This record gives sequence, C-alpha cells and structure tokens, in this order.
Amino acid sequence: MAIIRVTEEDKSIQAEATGRLRDHFAAKSAELGRPCTFDVITYGCQLNESDSEKLSGMMLDMGLIANSGNRAPDVLVLNTCSVRENAEDRLFGNLGIYKTDKKNNRDMIIAVCGCMMKVPENVDRIRNSYPYVDLVFDPQQLHNFPFLLSKTLDSRRQNISVGDTDYIAEDNFYNIDRKRKFRALVPIMYGCNNFCTYCIVPYARGRERSRSFDEIMAELKTLADQGYKEVMLLGQNVNSYGKGNDDGKYFADIFEEACRISSFSRVRFMSSHPKDLNRRVIDIMAEYPNAEKHLHLALQSGSDAVLRRMNRPYTSREFFDIADLFRSRVPGGSLTTDIIVGFPGETEEDFVKTLEAVDHCKFDSAFTFQYSKRPGTPAASYEDQVPKDVVSGRFARLLELQNDYAYKSNLAKVGSEEEVLIEGASKQQPGIFTGRTISNHLVNFTIPGSMYNGNGDDLEGRLGMVRLETARPYSVDGSLMRFTDG
Ligand code: SAM
Ligand code: SF4
Ligand code: F3S
Repeated sequence: MAIIRVTEEDKSIQAEATGRLRDHFAAKSAELGRPCTFDVITYGCQLNESDSEKLSGMMLDMGLIANSGNRAPDVLVLNTCSVRENAEDRLFGNLGIYKTDKKNNRDMIIAVCGCMMKVPENVDRIRNSYPYVDLVFDPQQLHNFPFLLSKTLDSRRQNISVGDTDYIAEDNFYNIDRKRKFRALVPIMYGCNNFCTYCIVPYARGRERSRSFDEIMAELKTLADQGYKEVMLLGQNVNSYGKGNDDGKYFADIFEEACRISSFSRVRFMSSHPKDLNRRVIDIMAEYPNAEKHLHLALQSGSDAVLRRMNRPYTSREFFDIADLFRSRVPGGSLTTDIIVGFPGETEEDFVKTLEAVDHCKFDSAFTFQYSKRPGTPAASYEDQVPKDVVSGRFARLLELQNDYAYKSNLAKVGSEEEVLIEGASKQQPGIFTGRTISNHLVNFTIPGSMYNGNGDDLEGRLGMVRLETARPYSVDGSLMRFTDG
C-alpha cells in the first residue's frame, strides 16, 4: 500500500471543485430562498472528531452553512466508526431515519465516510440496501471530499470511492472548523502498524504516517496566536511518531516543544502504547506545569498469555513498571486505561489477572469493553470465543471494581483547591459549570452570583480555582473561588 503526500496539484484540484460547488450551492440557495446547510455526524474517537472538523471546514468553503434548525440539512455527512459492532449497528439504524429526510428533500446529499467504509461488507451493504446514500468514501480520501462531492452531483448516481492508498495531507491543507473555542485537536500521525489481533483500526486507517515536525510546529504556533488554551496531540500510538521521517524528531520532541508554549494551559496527548512509551515523556509531564498530568495507557488484559494472543508485546509486569514510574514521578496525576473483557480463549484465571492488574494500577478511570468480533481481524477466526453470558458476567465484575477506584480517585481530590480549565455550563444541571483539572479529573462546580451571572458561553477556556468538596463516581463537585486568568 503506497503512502502518498498530498501535493500542490491536489490542492488546486480540490480548490477548483470547491469553487464549482460554491456556484452550485449559491444557485440552489437562490432557488430555495434560503441558505443551503450541512451537518456532520461523528461516531468514534477523537481522530474522527478531528476529521469531522476538516469536513465541516471544507463545506463552509463550499458556501454551505452549519444546520441549526429542525429541517434536515442539504448535505449530511456521516463519519463512521468500526471499532466495535455496536458502533456499526448505530450507523445502520440511523441510516433508516435519513431515508425519510431524503424523501422530503430529493436533492439532499447523504455521504458516508470514516472507518466503516474500509470494511468491504459495509460498503456492499450500502450499495445493496441503501441506494439513497449518494457518496461513500474512506478515511484516506478525506482531502478528496470536494472533488468526490462535485463528481457525485454531476453523475447523480451512487458514487463509491474506496481505495487502497494511504494519503497524508498536512493540516494546513484544510480550513479546520474547530468545534471547541479553547481546545484544538492536532493529529500528529495517522494510521497504525500494530495489528493487535482484535482491532480493525490498522485496516481502516492504513499504515502509520507521520506529519512533518515543522508543519506541526507551525500549526502549534498559529494555535497559540489564535488564543487556544489546550492542545491535544493525536495518534493511535503517538510514541511511534517520526518513524519514516528523516529529521530525527520523535514524539517527546513535539510534546516538549508544545509544553514550551506557555500560553497553552494544557498539553495533552492520546494514545500511547505500553510497548514503546518513552520515559522522557513522563519526565516532561513531571517537569512542565502545562503538561497534563494524565497518562492514558491501554492495558487491554492483565494476563500475559492473553496479551500475547492479542499481539500486545509487553507483559503485565512491564506495564506495572510504567504505571509505578508514572505514579512516583507525577504525584496526584491520573492513570487511565482501556480494558477488553472476553477476548477469545480468556479463562477465569486470565480474567482474575486483569482484576489483579486493576488492583495494582488503581486506574483513575478506565474504558472497559466487551470483546467484539471484527470480521477480517485474526481474532475473529479464533475458535475459542467466550460465551456472551460469561463475558457479561466478567464485565460487570470488572466494572464494579474499577468504579470503586474511580470513585476513590475523585475522593482523594476532596478538600483540595485546584485550577480548572472551564468547558462551559453543564447541559443537564442549570447553574452548574464544568471543567477539568490538570490531571483530567472532571469537576462540576457552582459560581457565586457575585462573581458571575452569565450562561457560561463566555467562560469556555477560562481558568479558575475551584474548592473540591464532594466526590461522585465520575466527577468531583466544588465551588469556584476565583478566576485565575485575570
Ligand atoms: N491505539 C489505542 C491503543 O492501543 O491504546 C487504542 C485505540 S482503539 C480505537 C480504543 C480501544 O478500543 C482499544 O484500546 C481497545 O480497548 C478497544 N477495542 C479495539 N478493538 C476492539 C474490539 N474488537 N472489541 C472490543 N474492544 C476493542
Ligand atoms: Fe488498535 Fe492496537 Fe493499533 Fe491501538 S495499537 S489502534 S488497539 S491495532
Ligand atoms: Fe473508530 Fe476509526 Fe477511531 S474505528 S475508534 S473512528 S480510528
């Protein structure tokens, strides 16, 4: 599979297509007597969120505006995730709903992209059962969206564009429509070469390819100038950054340079793999005040035998060594993880080792998953699949244990005062605001009326000192004492 860097010529092809689409939607808006609108619905991880910000930016360039009313949009893009079966089921469930929208507006365009579109069975299903989907393209064709959309409008036939080339386009290729006022998602690399035997991502996202160090630095500088408070460096395994580039720059270099930009209050990253976490990354976390004191490191299983079958080349002992180092170097920090229950062949003994690992690491929070068979991955054809009732029983036991540690982690914060980066008003509880500590603990807090009377919109990205008062299972409650950013 070839890895191709997007060129200036590609840029002009997309610019030309964008121009044609702008004319098309301007004429359509005049005919309808209202602006044409778009919507992007995102499933899956932050990498998909980041891709969706680029898709939105491309559609703004086409003269479309973000849909805000009750009417269905004129262009709907569904950016899908294939990591577990339930993510796929959600997409197919929702596609049925959009059929009615399309009946009401025959000119509506429905595009489906994202990781599910690299799985041939999904593409066939859309081809055969969802003829009203106009355009299908895979994540590697993201930069090509204007050209593909323009072609779809010309042909008026279902356009399926799924290739086997891994493109890499620098972020400066796009006009990124960032969703949060204070947080910028910055992918530093794409794809994954690890081929964990349960995981679809290497097939969906292709081979690892790293952005250029200089381009990333330029983007960080622009973000600082634009006033972003938080950057999140993204990749499936950020520790692999730089392999294949020839400038001798690795992830720790990017992390440290980002932390050197003092106008960033938080520098975060997601995800790293235990097999090659560079110890310098933990040192940087300990040394720089704006480095988030949070390490997300997927354990997956506490059993060495299961880890071997998962093709995760580390032992639980090696994982504990990193966990212990993090705890000693970054006191008060949070260590979070991903765990899969019910991987094929997992015995009760293996599962107990996972519980023991949780007891050892005392994760501050964890994403826990029931193993989901992904067609095309090696583990899907393993014969010793664990029965569903056994998996759900183990899952409940794991959740109970982990919830206890998550609660204790929040309890340990009670009584202290911590600076919180404010995300805005709580959607569920009027009068409550939310934010995160530098250790990524979620904080819900009140603000005395003498200090603030707004609806929270203008607080997004501000910093404040919060007294932490009550622990909840997934958050800490508190009250704002003062703003710390002037
Ligand atoms: N690259 C990241 C890493 O290795 O840390 C993980 C990214 S993956 C999108 C997020 C998590 O989904 C994985 O860590 C794993 O726990 C879970 N996952 C992946 N494939 C799965 C499957 N087939 N069934 C259940 N969970 C799965
Ligand atoms: Fe999937 Fe493993 Fe790659 Fe993470 S490292 S994306 S779990 S194959
Ligand atoms: Fe899903 Fe693709 Fe992310 S499979 S988790 S959207 S990389």
